[in-house]
Amino acid sequence: MTRFPLGVLPTPLVRADRLRAVLGCGPLWTKRDDLTGFGVAGNKVRALEHLLGDALARGGDVLVTGGGPDSNFVAAAAQAARVAGLDCELVVWGDPHGTTNLALATAAGARIHPLGSADRGRVDGEVERLGAELARQGRRPLAVPRGGSTPMGALGFACAAAEVVDQWSEPAAPTVVLPVGSGGSVAGLLAGLAGTDWQVLGASVSRPPEEITAKVLGLAHETAALRGSTPPRPEQLTIVDARGPGFGVASPADRAAADLVLRTEGVLLDDTYGAKAAAVAVEHLGTDPALLWFTGGLVSALSPVSELPGHSTEVRSHTTDGAP
Ligand SMILES: Cc1ncc(COP(=O)(O)O)c(C=O)c1O
Repeated sequence: MTRFPLGVLPTPLVRADRLRAVLGCGPLWTKRDDLTGFGVAGNKVRALEHLLGDALARGGDVLVTGGGPDSNFVAAAAQAARVAGLDCELVVWGDPHGTTNLALATAAGARIHPLGSADRGRVDGEVERLGAELARQGRRPLAVPRGGSTPMGALGFACAAAEVVDQWSEPAAPTVVLPVGSGGSVAGLLAGLAGTDWQVLGASVSRPPEEITAKVLGLAHETAALRGSTPPRPEQLTIVDARGPGFGVASPADRAAADLVLRTEGVLLDDTYGAKAAAVAVEHLGTDPALLWFTGGLVSALSPVSELPGHSTEVRSHTTDGAP
């Protein structure tokens, strides 16, 4: 298995003592995958390193994948394909106009195929169909489902598990809190943590917990098989429902948690993933050590900036004569 290096790894493990003081919880750390250093890919660069490495090892010449118009993964996939020298074809559900992530993807040279429907469940089938069509035309496609959540993609977070275990210095193992979308990141983490007594608490942002737990456990098993490591232990995983008002929409508690993280640790969290995981941390953390995994999402974190508590769009001058 060949990894195509893209990120600036390892990402920092940072103590969050100011946040801890407000929450009154045990030792609290943050894993800064918002700082993976490749475009604005956040956690997704880890999956892409393995997916692109696999595509190149097989002589692939085009990456075919997809997602929603606001998907961080599609922008990151397009940029990763570009630097690896592959073409990129993206199937996009919903309205494919006017989003920053799709602008980034097209700027990286990706071709967008609008699904013409808001039915996100049809994206993966269309990705497969497009991949088969390209193969018939003599291309060598790698077709990847939404989020890059295959066993190969999940290897990225299995490696991240080893990375963070190596960085951890507290005597007791922590509970890791992270957002869960398509499930590849948490599946890889679970596979990578099988030999430890770490716990994982996932905040499901788009699917009912039972449904995503089953998917994550299946994927974690396949990931462990692919790397020839100890099978995952389901008792290490808890996934709670963090969907709240809907995908991409933060509840007041989600916003309050994100605001607290910004005010104490200076990290900007997005409504879709980061705010929801932070709210789960605020609700569940006790006195045992914990690690809040920041996954990025900077593009959508910046979109609602005018709605941040305390923010005013009015420009205030601090000079008396109005000079800049
Ligand atoms: C910023 C961010 N955080 C978390 C996730 C969730 O990761 P996964 O889809 O592997 O569950 C995503 C998925 O795109 C993401 O973009």
